[in-house]
Parts: sequence; structure tokens; C-alpha cells
Amino acid sequence: MQTSHWLERPFTADTLALLSSPPLEQKTRPAVTELQAALAREAALRREMEDLARRQVMLAQEFEHRLINGLQVISSMLSLQSRAASTSEAAEQLTIAASRVAALGRVHRQLHLLDHQDRVEFKGYLEHLCADLSRLLCEETGDCAIVVEGANAEIPTVFAIPLGFIVNELITNSAKYAKGNIIVRLETTAPGCHSLSVLDDGPGLPAGFDPAGTKGLGMKIVRALVKQVGGELHISTGDNGRGARFTVAFSSASEVNAAR
Ligand SMILES: Nc1ncnc2c1ncn2[C@@H]1O[C@H](COP(=O)(O)OP(=O)(O)OP(=O)(O)O)[C@@H](O)[C@H]1O
Ligand SMILES: [Mg+2]
Repeated sequence: MQTSHWLERPFTADTLALLSSPPLEQKTRPAVTELQAALAREAALRREMEDLARRQVMLAQEFEHRLINGLQVISSMLSLQSRAASTSEAAEQLTIAASRVAALGRVHRQLHLLDHQDRVEFKGYLEHLCADLSRLLCEETGDCAIVVEGANAEIPTVFAIPLGFIVNELITNSAKYAKGNIIVRLETTAPGCHSLSVLDDGPGLPAGFDPAGTKGLGMKIVRALVKQVGGELHISTGDNGRGARFTVAFSSASEVNAAR
């Protein structure tokens, strides 16, 4: 049987519809235009978001700058007031308050220098903080030295402020009651689980020491901040069974608590 050439066959309805429809380019043009408009809108939105993010960083920096200045002003005012105090006890309390406000300022200043990331290289931060504390507490008297040990750990920035303030209180105590070598040790015990210790080689804690029952404000501040980071406070002797050791065990997964 002889088959006919395809040109000799009659066109089907589909072929006719295809031939009578506008060329492909003409058909897709509206879709392409729409796509280009959508891409332009997306690019504009992205630029707007980048602008907003930049503005937010600038505002955060400005806010922190003002906070640090504000803390400095409060600390100076308290110092001035301590000089005008009528009793030596009042003068001493005002000086202590001034130095605590100044410590908070130092903690914020170190973070400010670290460029507003949401995570912080904790060891570097501690080293800077301890260099500041060493100038303040050890340099003049020459009776203590602060060393930061351990591997680096990246922790959420919201932890760095309470932990920095805890370190400040513990180092101040070691410089006051123990002198000698003060070690700040950072350890990562499991992924996301860290321990931060301050230990010294002084005379050690008084017998029956209970951090919840001390008269001073230092331990109260430490306990409150340990709670804030969702951590645990362990107290024991320093290396070689001498001196005092305070360890804060915390997990960077409990970030939510620290942000409150
Ligand atoms: N590293 C240490 N070595 C020996 N004793 C310490 C050490 N740290 C704390 N203590 C003891 O614990 C007590 C409580 O400390 P805490 O920081 O609460 O109060 P403070 O230092 O006496 O006063 P404040 O902190 O209000 O200036 C101290 O008075 C001291 O007897
Ligand atoms: Mg104290």
C-alpha cells in the first residue's frame, strides 16, 4: 500500500489552531514583562531591607554609645557624691556603687568594640575584659595577675553581658581576698555546653561558705546573673586543692533566658 506525503494530507484542527495563533514571542511577551517587573520590585525591596538593616545597626551602635556614656556619667557622679558623703561608711558604699556601674560600662564597651554580631568570640572578649580589670585591680599594687585560659567558644552575645559582669564580681573578690594568680578558664564540655571558672590560689573560702547567705552584694549579683543565663554555680577549691574556684556551667541553647 502506498502512503501519501504529509503535505498531501488535510490539516487537523490542532495544526490549524497552532498556525493561526500569534507567534510564540508575541504570546510570551506579557509574561516576560511581568517577570521583569516582579524582579525589579524584589530588587527594590531587597535594597530597602538592606537600608533598614544598616539603619538598625547604626541605631544600635548609637544606643550603646549613649548607654556607655550614661554609665560613665553615673559612675562619676557616684564618685563625686562619695567625696561629699558625711560618713566614711556612706563614702565607701558610694565608691563601691560607682565601681560596679563602671564595671557594667566596661562590659558594654568590650561588646561595643566587637561590632554588634549576634554571637561573640568569648575568649577574646574575656581577654579584653580581664586586661581592663588587671589595669584596674592589679597594676598599681602588683599583687595579682589575671590569666585567661582555654579554647575559644562562640556564644550568643546576650550571654556576654551577664557573664562579663559575673567575671567582674568574681575577679574583684579574688583580687580582694586572695591576690596572687587569678585564672579565668573557659571550657566546652559538650557541644553548646560551656563552663566558665574563676579560680585563685589564695586562702580559700571561709569554712561553711554559703553563697546564698553572704552579707556582701557580690554573691547576690553572681547568683542572680547565673540564674539569668539559665546556668549553675559550682563552688570548690582551686587547682591543687588551694584557693577558691567558682564555676558557671551554662548552655548556649538557653539563649531565651538570657535575652529576658
Ligand atoms: N576568692 C575568694 N577567696 C576568699 N574568700 C572569698 C572569695 N570570694 C568571696 N569570698 C568570701 O565571700 C564573701 C562574700 O563575697 P561577696 O562578694 O558576696 O561580698 P564582699 O566581697 O564581701 O562585698 P561586696 O561584693 O558587696 O563588695 C566575702 O566577704 C569573702 O569572705
Ligand atoms: Mg565581692
